[in-house]
Amino acid sequence: MTGELTRESVPARQPAPQAKSTPEHRRGERDRVMAMLERRLSEALGLCGGLLRSPSLSLRLLSTLPFVLRGAKFSRRWSAVDEKHALPLSREGQEPGVPHNALRSYFESHREGPGIWKWVHYFEAYHRHLSRFVGREVHVLEIGVYSGGSLPMWREYFGPQCHVYGVDIEEACRVYENEWTSVSIGDQADRRFWKRFKQEHPRIDVLIDDGGHEPEQQLVTLEEMLPHLRPGGVYICEDVHGERNRFNAYVHGVAANLNTCLPKPGDQSKGIACSPTDFQAAIHSVHMYPFLTVLEKHDLPVAEFSSQKHGTEWQPFL
Ligand SMILES: C[S@@+](CC[C@H](N)C(=O)[O-])C[C@H]1O[C@@H](n2cnc3c(N)ncnc32)[C@H](O)[C@@H]1O
Repeated sequence: MTGELTRESVPARQPAPQAKSTPEHRRGERDRVMAMLERRLSEALGLCGGLLRSPSLSLRLLSTLPFVLRGAKFSRRWSAVDEKHALPLSREGQEPGVPHNALRSYFESHREGPGIWKWVHYFEAYHRHLSRFVGREVHVLEIGVYSGGSLPMWREYFGPQCHVYGVDIEEACRVYENEWTSVSIGDQADRRFWKRFKQEHPRIDVLIDDGGHEPEQQLVTLEEMLPHLRPGGVYICEDVHGERNRFNAYVHGVAANLNTCLPKPGDQSKGIACSPTDFQAAIHSVHMYPFLTVLEKHDLPVAEFSSQKHGTEWQPFL
């Protein structure tokens, strides 16, 4: 999918096509071209602003552009592989011996009552990243309550020690409050809202951003809430659509810091060591799935990365 598609933006029905020569059609065309030019201009200005504000970091990042391009071309040229070679293992967790994906089962069997709206392939990633919280005390925040059905789904999956917090811009969503669910009304793009929210909710272990899906909303939410998430916590952002998606680009910038390598002076005979940046000390990993981004935090801050050689027999060439 290449457009900036969000579920909200999917039109239920396309309007009947207009005759091409009408003044309305010409005005529509002109508005579309102007909007496109405005977007390009704002992108170019953003690039110039970035270059001026952080010239050396900008140049370092720009130097990776040929490889970003190469990777983009590689993925576009990808051709379908022979299905016979696929490993007969499923990631669904529905096979004997593999932890059952109870979240997926809940969703599949939920056919009436308060609505849940999820891309089905998210369930594999949810289960992979969230199963270790099952049965424990866990504080789960979902941004985007809508028709309320996902809030009891999280509670059922994580168990009776799960506290669920919903955030939505629509006052109507308060109806989904109960003894284990609280709902806060606010705009996820408003940093003042998050300031209040953090004071009132000191502990969040799992965050699922399924709110407005605009990149700026997703960025502000991540900047405000990733540092607030407890160590060991999991941050999930849904509906990251489109290759040119700005949140996606932002996450690439964030993830690049995981590869920072600051060599630690010391006895090289014991191996090579690197000192983590503050970010590396706190953030365990960044994962990307179709339309979904997951960040995991370390349980404990990492003190060092070390590369070690164990064994006595080595080839002479290195
Ligand atoms: C896709 S729905 C959420 C679906 C729900 N999580 C589910 O699984 O069924 C998106 C929700 O985000 C809310 N929303 C939109 N913009 C928002 C914003 N700026 N801040 C907070 N919530 C927002 C909408 O009111 C809507 O209820």
